[in-house]
Amino acid sequence: SFTHVDKEPVIVLVTGAAGQIGYALVPMIARGLMLGPDQPVILHMLDIEPAAEALEGVKMELIDAAFPLLKGVVATTDVVEACMNVNIAVMVGGFPRKEGMERKDVMSKNVAIYKAQASALEQHAAADCKVLVVANPANTNALILKEFAPSIPEKNITCLTRLDHNRALGQISERLNVPVSEVKNVIVWGNHSSTQYPDANHATIITSNGDKSVRELVADDNWLKTEFQSIVQQRGAAIIKARKLSSALSAASAICDHMRDWVHGTSTGTWVSMGVCSDGSYGIEPGLIYSFPVSCQNGKWSIVQGLKIDEFSRAKMDATAKELIEEKSTAYTCLELEK
Ligand code: NAD
Ligand code: LMR
Repeated sequence: SFTHVDKEPVIVLVTGAAGQIGYALVPMIARGLMLGPDQPVILHMLDIEPAAEALEGVKMELIDAAFPLLKGVVATTDVVEACMNVNIAVMVGGFPRKEGMERKDVMSKNVAIYKAQASALEQHAAADCKVLVVANPANTNALILKEFAPSIPEKNITCLTRLDHNRALGQISERLNVPVSEVKNVIVWGNHSSTQYPDANHATIITSNGDKSVRELVADDNWLKTEFQSIVQQRGAAIIKARKLSSALSAASAICDHMRDWVHGTSTGTWVSMGVCSDGSYGIEPGLIYSFPVSCQNGKWSIVQGLKIDEFSRAKMDATAKELIEEKSTAYTCLELEK
């Protein structure tokens, strides 16, 4: 209508935008799947020199798609130009894990990138910029970004475990033969790695007679403690084996889910998993970037408190925390060697 006042565009940075997640993600953002169907966006796409021409091609396709919400596209290899005034930063840039590679192999390549980009964001992004780190090792890259961008509020720095969360919902949906939209409140604790702990103890199925416990409906604790664990933990590796490339469309979709819930809020009684800076909740070392159940309101996340943790869960939650502490020290060793 004529009285409608257009919202100011939100500037969204996507690093590694010429890569395969980038290619799936930027059209989702430009269609409003991340920030809403009435929220105009300006895309800042960063990649490195060898990918500059491909990046230019992505920009051409974005123009050709004539997305009504897309108010501008910057395609650049200049990190300062890319970070300028951004409100949302989705950090996908880096080297992906290939078949046969361990996560530690990708570590040394990627933490140095995150240290450098921390400074660019700190100096040039909008003061309230929300950051989502996707590139692996996602939690530890986010930790390095947080430590080298001390003026960015630590609550604004997160990493992606929503893909693992969605994978867990998907497996329960398949197992119980219910639509995935009716499964809620799984939790992925810890690291976005094979030590993550997918926890269905508090998960429920939404039915017309109220919420029903997944644990009771599955009626097989052994499945929840074994197969369910390994399928979700190993799903990234299974996709790499099948596609010879790491997950991309599901990653892009999870990125949109993560940011949308953070910005627009989660629905009452529902939580999601996000890698966030630990405040010591559930006995997890403060300062680690650890995946917790969170609910979001008014653009802020908070860790869901008071969930009962049994002995099995405790051990799994501590094991994945231990891996993150080790990754942190490996990351610092890599950065030392860089000098
Ligand atoms: P890709 O190789 O297709 O794309 C990565 C892009 O990053 C490339 O275009 C590359 O040129 C670019 N890049 C490299 N260094 C850069 C730098 N310094 N600055 C900007 N861009 C840079 O990889 P992909 O499949 O899109 O995956 C991207 C990352 O996401 C990988 O690290 C992958 O392991 C990770 N990943 C994470 C999750 C998750 O759930 N957290 C899921 C899937 C993939
Ligand atoms: C994924 O979860 O699909 C990616 O993080 C791939 C990987 O490196 O495991």
